[in-house]
Amino acid sequence: MGDHQEKFIVQQEILEAGLAELDPLAKDYLIGGAESEATLLRNRAAIERRAFRPRVLVDVSQLSMETKIVTRMSQLPVFLAPVGALHRFHSQGDSAAGFAANKMGIPMFFGSLSQNAPSEMRASTKHDAIYQLYVRGDSNWVDEQVRQVEDIGFDGLCLTVDSAVYSRRERDMLRRFSKPWRKEYSPNALNDQAGFTWKDIARIRRNCKLPIILKGIASHEDARLAVEHGVDVIYVSNHGGRQLDHARGTLDALDEIKTAVSNQTKLFIDGGFMRGSDIVKALALGADAVGIGRLYCLALAAVGEAGVIRMLEILKEELETALALVGASSISALSPDHVVAEPFLVTQPHLFSAFPLMETK
Ligand SMILES: Cc1cc2nc3c(=O)[nH]c(=O)nc-3n(C[C@H](O)[C@H](O)[C@H](O)COP(=O)(O)O)c2cc1C
Repeated sequence: MGDHQEKFIVQQEILEAGLAELDPLAKDYLIGGAESEATLLRNRAAIERRAFRPRVLVDVSQLSMETKIVTRMSQLPVFLAPVGALHRFHSQGDSAAGFAANKMGIPMFFGSLSQNAPSEMRASTKHDAIYQLYVRGDSNWVDEQVRQVEDIGFDGLCLTVDSAVYSRRERDMLRRFSKPWRKEYSPNALNDQAGFTWKDIARIRRNCKLPIILKGIASHEDARLAVEHGVDVIYVSNHGGRQLDHARGTLDALDEIKTAVSNQTKLFIDGGFMRGSDIVKALALGADAVGIGRLYCLALAAVGEAGVIRMLEILKEELETALALVGASSISALSPDHVVAEPFLVTQPHLFSAFPLMETK
């Protein structure tokens, strides 16, 4: 690992190394969003429009970032979000990311579109391993999948609910890129997915003993329904801007959802979080944990497991710096008063606007 500590001292270097490893198809697939990519930009805009209201003369000599995210204590308030095609970015795919999550003591969400066998993914980490399921069959098929997820020993079930239909990703369409991992398990798979409703959530809740995480909630109405259906975690997400175009930035959706559920469930969020300071904003505004997507995909593309570890080490340093300078010695010391909406944008939001020194061409 020593080599990578010298080679990569800021995230930008890891991102550049990752981008350089990807062929044009994989690069566009990774960085792209749906249609006009407005949602993707709004994710960044929502983060960049918040400024800190720091407090000073607070003792920050002992910083604690440990927190229980799903079932175990996590070293950071961060987890690796589900990404269905990690093998497209590195030959060891999910296992490499799982090893890195294990080493850094944080949860990993494994995607059901992965090429790795679920048991292999589970075995890659002793920390929380969550299985993210896409509906690709009827209720019997879904119930059987849930049983297998329990039997294999995953720590939680994540149902992604922002994908009733597959979006139009025009970067991929322009390249005529048809994704081999878009598995359809039955002739009706896409119909089953589009017909999946709260009734199914109620049935799954009755039968599933694991914590259930609903990924893709973006309104207070759905957050309340999730609470009524006994969901354990509301995961505020717009799929990194890859599904509905012109959705709100997730940080802009957090407040109404936090108010609606008022501590009845945990709240996770993702979408555009690239730096420690981005994450501190979400925690201050009420999220319990923050998921990262493209950032770890690029670290994986750069040098596999070691890249994800190094990226997380840098993220940890950034988190510590942001916490200390904002005047909070722990996550629980953060409050909405540490953040204020600020209309003036310092940089024009885009996927890599957290790294203004980076050449993105
Ligand atoms: C290449 C790629 C593949 C993804 N695949 C899935 C998936 O299979 N299931 C899922 O729930 N979300 C998937 N997502 C969405 C992520 O879980 C997450 O919501 C998003 O990447 C967060 O935004 P960020 O990339 O800006 O951090 C994918 C995202 C990317 C970039």
